[in-house]
Amino acid sequence: MDGIVFLNGEFVEAGHARVSVFDRGYLFGDGVYEVLPVIDGKLVDRENFLIRLKNSLAAVEIPWPYSEERYLDILDEVMRRNEIEEGGVYTQVTRGVAMRDFAYPRVEPCCLAFAFKKALVDNPLAKTGVSVVTVDDIRWKRRDIKSISLLGQCMAKQQAANAGAYEGWMVEDGYVTEGTSSTAYICKDDNIITRPLSQAILPGIRRKSLLKLAELEGVRVEQRLFSVEEAYQADEAFLSSATTIVLPIVSIDGKTIGNGKPGKYAALMRQLYIQMARDESPAGRPG
Ligand SMILES: Cc1ncc(COP(=O)(O)O)c(C=O)c1O
Repeated sequence: MDGIVFLNGEFVEAGHARVSVFDRGYLFGDGVYEVLPVIDGKLVDRENFLIRLKNSLAAVEIPWPYSEERYLDILDEVMRRNEIEEGGVYTQVTRGVAMRDFAYPRVEPCCLAFAFKKALVDNPLAKTGVSVVTVDDIRWKRRDIKSISLLGQCMAKQQAANAGAYEGWMVEDGYVTEGTSSTAYICKDDNIITRPLSQAILPGIRRKSLLKLAELEGVRVEQRLFSVEEAYQADEAFLSSATTIVLPIVSIDGKTIGNGKPGKYAALMRQLYIQMARDESPAGRPG
């Protein structure tokens, strides 16, 4: 965990970055976050990042720490200073430092960003596929806010890890909500099926872009609830997130999905997203 991080206006060595123990992110999990993929030395899906961060901040009444333009410049600089050609940039905004009290204090928000290397395009899991297990969705009721309070998801991911699976698909009332850190999809009869947006799931940025790309490609998408039973019977399944892009799922709860091999829609959607990322202009700033 070294490299240069951005913290409250400064770029510093990670080992020298300091945050108060009274920061509300530390005491209450009072903050929101984002992860942007980096492909070919460029931040991907920047406009959607700005939109979702704005929504998360507004939902919890944390003010924007910087202008949109400045925020993107900061993230670009974190990426460049850490020489990231492929990987991700993480950023979070917590409410700030105040004596512990539940109601919101009026203080300056605390803004952090760091970058990491990861093979996104040549991820071997895209070729092999991954397994998932279903777990109970025990989270709160505002899952549309990208909150840094992630204990429910950590518990679910650990349950999946204990079962030897790559990801946990969280289930509520018999229906899949989403992965612990990814959006969930199944395919049946040449339709891609994914849960509609609501407060029950995070509005995934990959989800938004993939649905747009699917439409352009003439691939049918149904936004509706799907049950665990239906997932077992699917022709294929896949997940999406910032740093997995799209990964095929070859088994759910130990049951083989389709023919047990990565499916064609997972491969297509993955390829379309990577192409979109490569086609985004380097400046890529919202107009
Ligand atoms: C609960 C949850 N759902 C879905 C996603 C995928 O969202 P995105 O494509 O914006 O990374 C994430 C990503 O972290 C997540 O944590």
